[in-house]
Amino acid sequence: MSETTADTTAATIDGPPTPARRGAAHDSAFLRACRHEPVPHTPVWFMRQAGRSLPEYLKVREGIPMLESCMRPELVKEITLQPVRRHQVDAAIFFSDIVVPLKAVGIDVDIKPGIGPVIADPIRTAEDLKRLRPLEPDDVPYITEAVGLLVDELGTTPLIGFAGAPYTLASYLIEGGPSKNHENTKAMMYGQPELWAALVDRLADITSAFLKVQIEAGASAVQLFDSWVGALAPDDYRRSVMPSSTKVFDAVAHYGVPRIHFGVGTGELLGLMGQAGADIVGVDWRVPLNVAAERVGPGKGLQGNLDPAVLYAPTKVVETKAREVLHAAQALGTSGHIFNLGHGVLPSMDPDALSRLVAFVHEASAR
Ligand code: CP3
Repeated sequence: MSETTADTTAATIDGPPTPARRGAAHDSAFLRACRHEPVPHTPVWFMRQAGRSLPEYLKVREGIPMLESCMRPELVKEITLQPVRRHQVDAAIFFSDIVVPLKAVGIDVDIKPGIGPVIADPIRTAEDLKRLRPLEPDDVPYITEAVGLLVDELGTTPLIGFAGAPYTLASYLIEGGPSKNHENTKAMMYGQPELWAALVDRLADITSAFLKVQIEAGASAVQLFDSWVGALAPDDYRRSVMPSSTKVFDAVAHYGVPRIHFGVGTGELLGLMGQAGADIVGVDWRVPLNVAAERVGPGKGLQGNLDPAVLYAPTKVVETKAREVLHAAQALGTSGHIFNLGHGVLPSMDPDALSRLVAFVHEASAR
């Protein structure tokens, strides 16, 4: 909504020419940063920006269950646009959830307020796995429609599509809901490695299909959320998780849209997460960006990484901490930094503090 001229014919980094509707965002600060090109300012958006910290969100969601709201294209459009209007962020994140494709292939899943996804019949045996069928574009017509509506409305502001990574989705499916220690997940990973490999491989295909739908409808970039993978040691990640995440990145590589890979508590996994195939690696607040840049290695962009809890401190402190993030990112030596929080916006956060932070990042990073 805020950027310069539209370029509807240009090709993306390595891929085919962008479809005309996605091309409008080609020269946005966000996509330029993804391509390591010079930017007018460091682009900024927030994970979970479309949600409960906004009163206008609570108002339009009133009486509509979470997963049902994800299937109403006009509502998805409105909720996705709300933070863009309010905060002037440099990208929109598609309003949906990582369990939407699971629901679409017939898994009995609900999102319970204050808890998260709850699965009625967890998947723990080879027999259970048979219930997880492939995702077809026809299973999610409301996604294609909502992305199309959004891309037309957003114009020069890019839309980020997303999906859950195989490990994080597997942890919900096996545990039956959110879990602190991932006992059942790890029991399968260590004790039934063949069943585990089959499960994450099937999830990789579902996730790839879900991302393809969003990209083909016009999303400008995609983020793979592996929120809970920080529970693993590097060797286990490499052996049991990385192949399925790599399969997802490979499946969408030919589109040439930037691919972001994010997890929480992944300091020891950053190098491997880069190797898994993403163009940009998301970093939480525990590792400074200059250290993350060394771990991830050359050629990759970084996204992050202000501690979300800093937003509860006085404005001056927020600005000092945000400046530290910008300074640490200078170690990248290029424009390949996207400012974000180290994890998502919290429901109790003051929306005005987020708006002020966006303005500050733009001003402090103006080139
Ligand atoms: O703003 C955005 O980032 C776009 C929308 C988005 C949602 N979920 C909407 C949502 C995105 C990108 C997600 C991803 C997601 N969902 C992740 C990965 C991101 C992360 O934070 O690590 C995970 C782990 C989930 C699973 C999930 N869904 C959880 C843990 C919860 C929170 C449960 C709660 O109420 O505390 C949800 C529900 C959910 N997804 C909400 C929103 C706006 C809140 C539901 C509501 O408003 O009733």
